[in-house]
Amino acid sequence: MKKDVLTLWDLEPEDVMQLIERSMVFKKSNSADVQYRPLQGKTLGIIFDKPSTRTRVSFEVAMIQLGGGVTFLSAKDTQMTRDEPIIDTARVLSGYLDGIVVRTYSQELVEKLALNSSIPVINGLTDMYHPCQVLSDLQTILEKKGKLTGLKIAWVGDGNNVAHSWINATAILGLHIVLATPEGYEPNQDILRKAIDHGKGTISVLSDPFEAVQDADVIYTDVWASMGQEKEHGTRKRIFQPYQVNDNLVDRAKKDAIVMHCLPAHRGEEISNEVLEGPRSVIWDQAENKLYMHKAILERLMVDSD
Ligand code: CP
Ligand code: NVA
Repeated sequence: MKKDVLTLWDLEPEDVMQLIERSMVFKKSNSADVQYRPLQGKTLGIIFDKPSTRTRVSFEVAMIQLGGGVTFLSAKDTQMTRDEPIIDTARVLSGYLDGIVVRTYSQELVEKLALNSSIPVINGLTDMYHPCQVLSDLQTILEKKGKLTGLKIAWVGDGNNVAHSWINATAILGLHIVLATPEGYEPNQDILRKAIDHGKGTISVLSDPFEAVQDADVIYTDVWASMGQEKEHGTRKRIFQPYQVNDNLVDRAKKDAIVMHCLPAHRGEEISNEVLEGPRSVIWDQAENKLYMHKAILERLMVDSD
């Protein structure tokens, strides 16, 4: 049966760990391993309704390096914007493609697409989640810290899509996360409740960024205004100012704490240039790992779905 990755809840803890292991193997072998072409003859559709640099390019390169082909569709150029029902789009694309990565606003749309497709559907970011991002982030933490459990992860900033996927990962793997967000910008309550009710890991939400990063092993931030929230940028810039990840904040964390950001970053807003380029930043390795994790995901979903 085909498998989708729409949220991290689609994966068991063993699945997550296996994906990380495979991703690390891909990283070691790199693209030099031209013999391994498990997706030869297969085509991945990438349908994006929001901009992307990393996710699009890393999925494309991952697919090509695994021997497959890619077709990219800007959602606005498809008949979906002329009200073709998603159920019809899903059926038709299932006849051409072997898998789909989709980036759009509505999580519901991605779920409908998956429900009506006979091929794997991968969530490449919605307003609610960014599961593939957090999978490669977990790999980065494991590489840098040698473990995932027993660490304090501090999320500083907006309770957004990436934060939601972090909350899911915390519950699934039994991690420890403290999120500091301004009042009114907390993570979605249903997502929080489901994760807390799962009973694994510890999740707390507070408003003081200094308290959140106290003795943290990992500090993670993301943009203050996500894609689709551009009009709120000015207001958010004022409200989120105390949440900037700068040297003053990072000094409260453990001496060997690492700083992460999914990118794109706005230097001088959610993160200072000094921290982004500083010795604790693992952000560039983090971005690179997306390629290897996307290979692991494509291999898992598209080779095993035969
Ligand atoms: N981190 C991430 O998803 O980046 P892009 O928006 O460039 O894909
Ligand atoms: N929260 C950000 C993540 C970008 C990768 C956004 O949705 O714009």
